[in-house]
Amino acid sequence: MDVTGKAGSFKDVEAEALAVAVFKDEKADEGFLKDLDEATGGVIKSVIESEELKGKEGETVYVHLTGNGNLKARRLLLIGVGERENFKAAQVSQLGGAAVRFLRGKNVKNVALMPRSEGDVESVVASSVEGAIMGLFEPDKYRTVEKEERQIESLVVLIEGADEEALKRGAERGRFIGESVNFTREMANEPGGYMTPTDMAESAQSVANDFGLYIDVLDEARMEQEGMGALLGVSRGSEQPAKLIVLKYTPAESDGKPEGDLLAFVGKGITFDSGGISLKPGENMELMKYDMTGGATVIGALRAIAQLKPSIPVLGIAACAENLPSGRATKPGDILTAMTGKTIEVINTDAEGRLVLADALAYAKKLGAKRVIDMATLTGAVSIALGDVNTAILGTDQALIDEVIEAGQEVGEKFWQLPLDKEYTKQIKSDIADIKNIGGRKAGTITAAAFLKEFAEGLSWAHLDIAGTAWGDDAKPYRSKGPTGIAVRTLINIVERAARSRNGDGNSEGKGHESGGK
Ligand code: BES
Ligand code: ZN
Ligand code: ZN
Repeated sequence: MDVTGKAGSFKDVEAEALAVAVFKDEKADEGFLKDLDEATGGVIKSVIESEELKGKEGETVYVHLTGNGNLKARRLLLIGVGERENFKAAQVSQLGGAAVRFLRGKNVKNVALMPRSEGDVESVVASSVEGAIMGLFEPDKYRTVEKEERQIESLVVLIEGADEEALKRGAERGRFIGESVNFTREMANEPGGYMTPTDMAESAQSVANDFGLYIDVLDEARMEQEGMGALLGVSRGSEQPAKLIVLKYTPAESDGKPEGDLLAFVGKGITFDSGGISLKPGENMELMKYDMTGGATVIGALRAIAQLKPSIPVLGIAACAENLPSGRATKPGDILTAMTGKTIEVINTDAEGRLVLADALAYAKKLGAKRVIDMATLTGAVSIALGDVNTAILGTDQALIDEVIEAGQEVGEKFWQLPLDKEYTKQIKSDIADIKNIGGRKAGTITAAAFLKEFAEGLSWAHLDIAGTAWGDDAKPYRSKGPTGIAVRTLINIVERAARSRNGDGNSEGKGHESGGK
């Protein structure tokens, strides 16, 4: 899809369809809607007066303008977006997704979108484009019949009177981000047989080559040397060798200012989680292909960061292994020694994510990371607690946790903090080793985090449990079902916010370039 931002009038835009945001209780006889009403020969008044369109979030009205008015676009899509004051970047992104998904369904190829947001031009265009690109993702790669073949060829985001440079920058940013989220979703969607740890490493290698990132992939021999007994213990039962992928983004040239504390993202990359000897039940086991989403999220975020080129370095680590039972597999009762020297009694081989992360966190620390955010499809319990709406966040640094929550809010990704009091650590005390890898039925998401905390000592650390939010069971107007790419945009935003505050540009809005949108 070709994406551009344009400053011209909606009347002259060359597109088959014009999609327009409509706010709650907007009237057709004043402001922009009056102009649109005139240009469409009275369509707006008609749909508003008939109460077909009230501007509530999610409402859509779609008409062909046969003979009516003087718009170049001959189809009009009106999308309700709710209250004007709540219409921020996150909602603009969903509008972009909903518009192109709807119009693709009508076989439209060329779309013009008027987000009508008052935010700064660059970010409004970026959010629209990012949302549109994400909206077009489909998980049907391996279908040979009934595949979604229709494609939107071009999207023009219209902001009348906007600065050309800001429009251009916004379209580019939106593309970098939207494509990187979809990159993560494509990876997460691949079956375990096509996305082994080796495949993940190859995929990361092409990202590094294409976008200029440092990469190092540790094979099992190097993991042995590093003493990564926890990660290797998970991988033992599989024929597929584990890989620890290290990516690093470094700004091209130093501006002389101190770099600050190195930020790192660490992801769980279990390319298939059968449970191991503690075998999972068969129902829904096929979904355990997405147990590598944390790792794919790290790679996707770094992919975008390499293109956005912020002024701070970022380290990314994906701990990749396959969890299968075999004659060699780690058994319940076995003891593993992690890179930090801590000994772990494996009670349940299905609690493997925390084992690979234990060594990945230690390695992040070895590479100099000071602030670390890890992400993992870690516990089924998180879906019981928070469903598919909020991602759980826990950690040891409240400022970092707050930063994730706020950065997430800006892009429309919700995080909800769970407590991590030291009392929970009692549940993972082992009689025979330093700790055990499960903490019983109570507070499963918290005891998993309490386990990780043991390996995050000395770090400023936050943990995201994305097991409930990384996969959507149902399609939404703005996105398909399947892998959601959750947290990729939040991570990118965290880096950009950190870079901006380091450069003294303040945190978010108010960068000028007001759109003058109506
Ligand atoms: N990968 C699973 C968690 C999961 C469950 C992710 C459902 C996505 C959807 C994880 O490795 C796991 O199996 N966790 C166990 C932990 C238990 C043995 C303490 C779980 O949640 O049941
Ligand atoms: Zn498991
Ligand atoms: Zn798992």
